[in-house]
Amino acid sequence: MPLADVDPLGAPRRPTGVPELDRVLGGGLVAGSVTLLGGEPGMGKSTLVLQALGAMAAAGARCLLVCAEESAAQVRLRADRLGTLAPDLLVACETSLPHVCAHAESLQPDVIAIDSIQAVQDPDAPGGPGSVSQVRDGASRAQRLAKELGIATLLVGHVTKDGSLAGPRALEHVVDTVLSFEGDRHHALRMLRALKHRFGPTDELGLMEMTGDGLVPVSDPSALFLADRRVGASGSVVAAVLEGSRPLCVEMQSLVVPTGAPMPRRVAQAFDGGRLAMLVAIAQQRAGVALAGLDVFASVAGGVRVAEPGADLALALALASASSGVPVAADTVVVGELGLGGEVRQVPQIGRRLAEAQRLGFARAIVPASSPDVAGIRLQRVTDLEEAARATGLAP
Ligand code: TYD
Ligand code: MG
Repeated sequence: MPLADVDPLGAPRRPTGVPELDRVLGGGLVAGSVTLLGGEPGMGKSTLVLQALGAMAAAGARCLLVCAEESAAQVRLRADRLGTLAPDLLVACETSLPHVCAHAESLQPDVIAIDSIQAVQDPDAPGGPGSVSQVRDGASRAQRLAKELGIATLLVGHVTKDGSLAGPRALEHVVDTVLSFEGDRHHALRMLRALKHRFGPTDELGLMEMTGDGLVPVSDPSALFLADRRVGASGSVVAAVLEGSRPLCVEMQSLVVPTGAPMPRRVAQAFDGGRLAMLVAIAQQRAGVALAGLDVFASVAGGVRVAEPGADLALALALASASSGVPVAADTVVVGELGLGGEVRQVPQIGRRLAEAQRLGFARAIVPASSPDVAGIRLQRVTDLEEAARATGLAP
């Protein structure tokens, strides 16, 4: 058929009622699509799914929750605790894949969630529960069912610590959307990202906190990430980064110590190791930062992972500050990408980043040369790392 005759709104989106989940999905679940929610055990996948289904059921959708791991009583207790006990939320405790399909066909729900895909199996198919062949078979049958009946389908998948997922990795090409639910077991912060998304952007970050009443959105992430910052400490520089469409201020930290090993170590946490090695080289070569023979540690405080070059300049200055022991003024925020020549490059949406920094009370920003003025914050435009080091008092 002519492409122009296709209804562009052919796949309606149903908001899940969980704001941070909707943010990552680009508005909600698409009818007839399959979304895989992967994460380590204990992250809160079952909680997230129950909150979403409860909210969608309360909004009038016919929702079926297939619990293959927990009893109906356990789920009922959790729903009571979360206050998501909607009358139209149906539950089936079932591990047999053919039975799950039969339920879906007879109920024709708008939304179905299977928790988890590793725990359901077809007794007549080869492989035990959780085996790659069973998991793949389960996902492709869920995909067929979703397409035939127009059901928005959510699959929960367990991911092990080392990332070797006896499931989700094998499923990525079978499903339409892959969400990853991450966090540190010892912290309440949870991050939701789309690794693959046929119906929207993949760069949105959802931020939630696990509380006694379930998952709640983080209302002011920057304030949360900067809450425990030690003012006046060397090796600490605040960067204004962009996570999806949201500007965030995060503290880039660095620590350098004389190495005891033949090869100095470069350890990056919540930050790409290769990028750290590159920034160490740039700082040494282009700004004369003394890092030879030193172990270098770099991290992003607060647990959020920064995968954006806009934090380059801040981390390079954190290295210079750690190496010299001179702190960078606490009211200073830094934005900019670094090239191998030590040049500072412009980053997308600089204005929104600086507005976020200004809102948080930062008075001065070290920014790329082409940055436009932003009300309420004094800009110091720099062209290279050396100039930025001088502007922050780290170089004479
Ligand atoms: P769960 O959703 O069961 O994780 P997953 O399905 O990913 O394995 O929940 C994980 C943890 O969260 C569990 O140890 C208890 C805790 N929790 C809360 O702190 N608050 C809550 O309201 C709920 C439901 C769970
Ligand atoms: Mg679970």
